Amino acid sequence: THLVCVCVCVCVCLRSCCHFVRYLAKLSSVGSIRDEETCERLRGLIQRQVQICKRSVEVMDAVRRGAQLAIDECQFQFRNRRWNCSTLETMPVFGKVVTQGTREAAFVYAISAASVAFAVTRACSSGELEKCGCDHNVHGVSPEGFQWSGCSDNIAYGVAFSQSFVDVRERSKGQSSSRALMNLHNNEAGRKAILSHMRVECKCHGVSGSCEVKTCWKAMPPFRKVGNVIKEKFDGATEVEQRKVGTTKALVPRNSQFKPHTDEDLVYLEPSPDFCDHDPRTPGMLGTMGRQCNRTSKAIDGCELMCCGRGFQTQEVEVVDRCSCKFHWCCYVKCRQCRKMVEMHTCR
Ligand SMILES: *[C@@H]1O[C@H](CO)[C@@H](O)[C@H](O)[C@H]1NC(C)=O
Ligand SMILES: *[C@@H]1O[C@H](CO)[C@@H](O)[C@H](O)[C@H]1NC(C)=O
Repeated sequence: THLVCVCVCVCVCLRSCCHFVRYLAKLSSVGSIRDEETCERLRGLIQRQVQICKRSVEVMDAVRRGAQLAIDECQFQFRNRRWNCSTLETMPVFGKVVTQGTREAAFVYAISAASVAFAVTRACSSGELEKCGCDHNVHGVSPEGFQWSGCSDNIAYGVAFSQSFVDVRERSKGQSSSRALMNLHNNEAGRKAILSHMRVECKCHGVSGSCEVKTCWKAMPPFRKVGNVIKEKFDGATEVEQRKVGTTKALVPRNSQFKPHTDEDLVYLEPSPDFCDHDPRTPGMLGTMGRQCNRTSKAIDGCELMCCGRGFQTQEVEVVDRCSCKFHWCCYVKCRQCRKMVEMHTCR
């Protein structure tokens, strides 16, 4: 109950910030979204989102899958870092880490906006939606001489849906607060990570694999690629502050020596905490005690940095692995199970 209380307080104080992640987790955990009534019951959505939900119920299940995709990808990308994108059973999902305008928040917003665009586009291509299908603007013969054919991913639809559904939270707050500007920028950067990595996939047609006729379509990159791109942007994110530029407010680099960020870069307003220690008053601040670390690595996954100088414990643990694998004609692989002892290090 203590945790719930803390969480509620944080949500009240920083409602504008933590609602986003809260509704994400809510969405990812509901069974499925089938009718307009479900839209009313989804906790954490703002009124405008409930309206969109009702208007586009059939799209909402893709949004739900997108939310789960974002959480999974965040946890994969941060598995070796002090903050491992831990979600809490209680809200807000990613903890206070994300309610502040940190680099981590920038990542979470970008990956979430991207995941909604990605999942909705996937749903369009798979034919499960009435509102959208493949991108029919991609047709004819390309300058390279191949035929556009097959189902090109309708990324424009997915991006537009993400812009209306995800960004409406920031827009409804008015776009003047620096946090709203930061979130909107990072949402857009996340979607750009898909848009700028669209690929052309082709199939050859002709006798015995010759490529007399080649048909191609536009496809999104795998979501792992999108995660990798956004993680790189996280590593190179720009610290910004709000300034008046002409008559509008804009985010500009805090350090004028740095080159200005582009639409594809992530921006943040506050430096991150060190994430070393557990803080029961701060949801999501779990600390690194008990985390596995790598004794030989000098990077953030190494015991020195991961354990924040507190030292580590070493245990021998038995792992079961596949070994002496043999290929049998035809066609299977048979392996033996080998047991071996390995050292496992965990932070004190
Ligand atoms: C993240 O780290 C915490 C300990 O700090 C651990 O309890 C949790 O299982 C980890 N989560 C993931 C997704 O690895
Ligand atoms: C530990 O770090 C070293 C050096 O970076 C690397 O070569 C090794 O694969 C890592 N071990 C594990 C278990 O990740």
